[in-house]
Amino acid sequence: MAESVAPPNPLEGIAPEPGVAKPDPILVVDDLRRSFGGLTAVDVSHLEFQRGAITAIIGPNGAGKTTFFNLVTGFDAPNDGNWRYDGRRLKGRGAHRIARAGMVRTFQLTKTLAKLTVLDNMMLAAQGQGGERIDRALIRWSWAAREEQIRVQAEALLDEFGIAHMKDEYAGTLSGGQRKLLEMARALMAKPRLIMLDEPTAGVNPALTQSLLEHVRGLRDQGVTVVFVEHDMDVVMDISDWVVVMAQGAVLAEGPPVTVASNPQVIEAYLGRSTSDGSGETPGKEPRSRETGDEQVPEDG
Ligand SMILES: Nc1ncnc2c1ncn2[C@@H]1O[C@H](COP(=O)(O)OP(=O)(O)O)[C@@H](O)[C@H]1O
Ligand SMILES: [Mg+2]
Repeated sequence: MAESVAPPNPLEGIAPEPGVAKPDPILVVDDLRRSFGGLTAVDVSHLEFQRGAITAIIGPNGAGKTTFFNLVTGFDAPNDGNWRYDGRRLKGRGAHRIARAGMVRTFQLTKTLAKLTVLDNMMLAAQGQGGERIDRALIRWSWAAREEQIRVQAEALLDEFGIAHMKDEYAGTLSGGQRKLLEMARALMAKPRLIMLDEPTAGVNPALTQSLLEHVRGLRDQGVTVVFVEHDMDVVMDISDWVVVMAQGAVLAEGPPVTVASNPQVIEAYLGRSTSDGSGETPGKEPRSRETGDEQVPEDG
C-alpha cells in the first residue's frame, strides 16, 4: 500500500491552553457541570473539539471522563451548561436523537448482547442507537430491501474489523478484544460524523489494539472526528492530534501530545495518584457498576 501523504495539521500552532479556540470545532462545550451529591464530577468551562481530528482525553481515574461522555451524548443530564454539535444545541435531547444527529459513543464496558449473534448485534445497531425500534413508518414491502441493505453494511464492517468469520457466532463467544472491535463496528453502523470511544483499547491485546488504531486512523482519513478516552500513553502519543487532560472534573491542560506529556502539572496530576505501574491509575478503583452493560466479561483481548 502506498504511503498516504499526511494532510496539513489544522491544529499546528494552536496555543496549548485550556479552553483554546480551534479553527473548525465540531463540538463546543460551555460551563458544563455535573455533580453527584457533594461531588463535582464534571466542571468544564470551555472546550472545543476540532473537526476531523483525533482528540484523546486522558486523566486519572475519577477525573470525570466517562461522565463527560455521558453528558455530551445524552446519556446523562448536566446540572448546568450547554454544548453545541455542529452548531446545534443538544441540551435536553435524548441519546438516540444525538446519535441520529451523527454523534455516537461506545462504552467503557461493551454493550454487546451475548445471546445474539455478532451479525444480529450489528443489525440491531442500525435500527437506531439506544434500543429504538425500526421506524414504524417503514412500509412492509420496503422492509426486506432495507434489511438487505443493513446486512450488506454490517458484513462489510465486520470484514473490515477482521471478525466476519464470527458473524454467526453468539457475541458471548468473542474474546474481550473482539468485543471491543464489535462495539466499534456497531457504532459505525450509525454512520457517525463524530465518534466518542471510551477506553477502546482497555483489555485488548497488542495485535488487536494495532488493528483498532488503524481503524481509528482510517476514520479520521474519511473525515470522521474521533474523541477517545485512553489510559495507555503510548497509544495517545501514537495516534492523537490533540490531547485534553481532565482532573477533578475540569480541563487541566490541552495541547499536542508531546507538549501535554511534558507539562509538569499533568505529570503531577498523574503522579499525585500514582501507583507502582506508573500509569497513574489505581487498579480496581474504576466505578464500573453504573455502566451496566448487558453483562460484564473480563476483557482478556
Ligand atoms: N452516577 C454516579 N453516581 C455517583 N457518583 C458518580 C456517578 N458517576 C460518576 N460518579 C463519580 O464521578 C467521578 C467521575 O467519574 P467518571 O466520570 O467515571 O471518571 P473517569 O471516567 O474519568 O474515571 C467519580 O468520582 C465517580 O465516582
Ligand atoms: Mg471512565
